[in-house]
Amino acid sequence: MKKEYLGLEYYIFDNLEELDKKDKELVKNAIDASTRAYAPYSKFHVGAAVRLSNDIIIQGNNQENAAYPSGLCAERVTLFYAHSRYPNEVIVTIAIYANNEDNTYKDIVTPCGACRQVMAEIQSAQKKPLRVILLSPTNSGIILPSIDVLLPFQFEL
Ligand code: THU
Repeated sequence: MKKEYLGLEYYIFDNLEELDKKDKELVKNAIDASTRAYAPYSKFHVGAAVRLSNDIIIQGNNQENAAYPSGLCAERVTLFYAHSRYPNEVIVTIAIYANNEDNTYKDIVTPCGACRQVMAEIQSAQKKPLRVILLSPTNSGIILPSIDVLLPFQFEL
């Protein structure tokens, strides 16, 4: 048996000035989207924004429900809408941001497994990397050049 290693490359930034103009615009859209989250149960407001290959930006946020499992994460709200509206555009980058109602949350939010699986399928179908930017409320964060970093050995049919 042979041991193998996964090499997963990603980038860390400490403030928005380290981002290029387009990424800075995208993360600001994710922050903006978070302000309209419907999260009365968790009070955890997540915003996402995707940039399409035609440079259109689509925003979305988490949508909760009293029947908890009926709610949906910001990432899937945004990706499903973007893909339904522009099925032929590549989704180049998704930016994700979260905060809570008393502003005590200071971390990046890392997508749940279900959202990772959806991102993986989008990337696989478009045959182009889907970049991910995870931004914290202190404006630091990470950039993942592809979904492969979030979901190695992804399931495909
Ligand atoms: N949530 C997201 O929208 N995205 C994530 O990456 C993690 C969790 C939402 C789901 C739920 O509305 C709330 O955050 C608390 O889990």
